[in-house]
Amino acid sequence: MKEIINHIQNNKQTYIEELKDFLRIPSISTLSENKKDVAGCAEFVSENLKKIGLNRVEIFKTEGHPIVYGEWLGAPGKPTILVYGHYDVQPVDPIELWNSPPFEPTIKNGKIFARGATDDKGQVFMHFKSVEAFFKNEGSLPVNIKYIIEGEEEIGSENLNVFLKNNTDLLKCDVVLISDSSLYGPGIPTLTYALRGLAYLEVEMIGPNRDLHSGSFGGSVANPINKMAQLISELQDKNGRITIPGFYDDVIKLTKKEKENFKALKFSDKNFAKDLGVGQLEGEKGFTTLERLWARPTLDCNGIIGGFTGKGAKTVIPSKVTAKISMRLVPDQNPNKIAKLFERHLKKIAPKSVKIKVINLHGAYPSLTAVDNPANVAAAKAMSRAFGKETVFMREGGSIPIVTEFSKRLKSPVVLMGLGLNSENLHSPNEHFDLNHFELGIISSAYFMRELSDVN
Ligand code: BES
Ligand code: MN
Ligand code: MN
Repeated sequence: MKEIINHIQNNKQTYIEELKDFLRIPSISTLSENKKDVAGCAEFVSENLKKIGLNRVEIFKTEGHPIVYGEWLGAPGKPTILVYGHYDVQPVDPIELWNSPPFEPTIKNGKIFARGATDDKGQVFMHFKSVEAFFKNEGSLPVNIKYIIEGEEEIGSENLNVFLKNNTDLLKCDVVLISDSSLYGPGIPTLTYALRGLAYLEVEMIGPNRDLHSGSFGGSVANPINKMAQLISELQDKNGRITIPGFYDDVIKLTKKEKENFKALKFSDKNFAKDLGVGQLEGEKGFTTLERLWARPTLDCNGIIGGFTGKGAKTVIPSKVTAKISMRLVPDQNPNKIAKLFERHLKKIAPKSVKIKVINLHGAYPSLTAVDNPANVAAAKAMSRAFGKETVFMREGGSIPIVTEFSKRLKSPVVLMGLGLNSENLHSPNEHFDLNHFELGIISSAYFMRELSDVN
């Protein structure tokens, strides 16, 4: 392994230059004006996969953005790793808050700044370079490898889900490897063993059939914005518990051991609050912050559209308001069931003075891979070797929609070897990725292949 590691360390600069080319492509999946850029980014991924030495690389068209597939199956009898990642990125707004343009990668203090740097281009790229390093030094890999890199993760992975259903054989593997999450802290080797799921809904509420003068009509009809605000606040009680009947039915309680493991991570509420600029933290009573973030479901309003939002004052009772509401879910909650419970409850508590329509935008199942699953054990060894420190296990509050589909359909464990940091501004201005972690990620990836090969 010494040659491989040396090779990676000696080629870090070249890798960074290549990563910059990847980051220059504005592959924003949610914006139709970027459709060509997204397709161009799939081309980039495919070219890079060919370059590192795979012997089959293909771009699969979908109803949405393309999926890139690659494989090298030259190690018969050895396990097969399926590397998943996404090449699409989030929009860049508010653009005025970026210190350097989001698609002109800029290095400062050992970090690379660009949209997609940590989520997920920088992390995906690690697994390209580890494989390249093996091919360059040994002409082969210690395991078989498949890649599935998609362009729709940030919009719910619907087409990948279809692709997976229709191509289960193609994607068959012994372990799924994903780097699209975070380390517990800088320099701490970490594996994530559970993700939260998501139910994301839009609630449209209509009061009077047209906008009204708030003087001539105010006091006679329901104002949908007022009503919406009231309804949203009723969805949680004063202890921060969600009031939708049946909402908690499928929530699996934390084990005593997990609670202890969370405690051992020595999370500081004080530093967290300080970093976020809030006077105190908030959330469901009776749980620690890590428990609330990782193992308890939540309900949040993400945006409200309605009424007069221009400069100055306009006296009006709006006819319509729309609220975007998300619920983060935990094992074993089911996003479709939760969406139904939500809709039923909202319709029940909404007054006759307004009409409401609930639209299910997208969902994701929560996921969990046991800490003692052999795949996690091998990954922990690999990361510990790369970092020279014991690997810690954590859960995560975010979601990766396809993870549960992988474990259901491929029946393989999913290893979440994230090298990002939650402080790296993903989905926010000045997104960046620590280049030290980038290098350690490539090395961890290489060790993981070795590790899997040796135990099998
Ligand atoms: N990579 C993130 C999820 C994530 C973030 C995992 C931080 C662990 C740590 C992913 O790209 C993401 O943003 N997921 C969305 C899913 C949604 C759009 C369906 C999320 O969690 O909001
Ligand atoms: Mn991601
Ligand atoms: Mn994301």
